[in-house]
Amino acid sequence: MTGEDTDTVGNGDGGAMDGLVVRGCERCPQLVESRSRIVNGVGPEDADLVFLGEAPGANEDERGEPFVGRSGSILDDALRDAGLDRTDVRITNCVRCRPPDNRDPMREELANCRGYLERELDLVDPALVVTLGKVPSEHLLDRSVAVTKEAGDVVDVRLGERSYRVVVSVHPAATLYDGSQRETFFETIAHAADLAGVSASDSGQANLGDF
Ligand code: URA
Repeated sequence: MTGEDTDTVGNGDGGAMDGLVVRGCERCPQLVESRSRIVNGVGPEDADLVFLGEAPGANEDERGEPFVGRSGSILDDALRDAGLDRTDVRITNCVRCRPPDNRDPMREELANCRGYLERELDLVDPALVVTLGKVPSEHLLDRSVAVTKEAGDVVDVRLGERSYRVVVSVHPAATLYDGSQRETFFETIAHAADLAGVSASDSGQANLGDF
């Protein structure tokens, strides 16, 4: 995708969701200013495993895809170690537009984007959702979360009419400034793949990370 998102569906500033794709949303004035485009989730529409981040950064905003910068390559590495490719899973964010100066999304912005996330999860119907970092973990669990302590924990979360199994994870970027988090992150992703029934050992595939 290139250029400003102009693919509106003509329903004012509310935006609209066409399947899993949000178009034309202008609910958050600051994000409309700071984004180049809306960054929707990617991956299979029936993925067993969904990874949920916070919001797009500069790389994601430029390319129109979640987790394609440094954090994305760490996530790709951990997936590969678990015998998976990023195309096997769905990757999305709590907020679909890049916040200015990479600040955290504000409470109101999270709330404005919440319906899109709930609809995406409802349509994809994953076996498991992995929350990548503090913001998505607290957004889904609706309480304060110490991600380092709670990484790998499995929690049942009610969202709208549905409930989902959620695994808490540290954010992949945490592994960059704290080496000890790398093991935690990789173990959490492998554990999640196992729980979702999509790990290499479940499919009988060789784990390429072992070679
Ligand atoms: N961090 C996130 O939380 N989401 C992205 O898409 C990229 C980095």
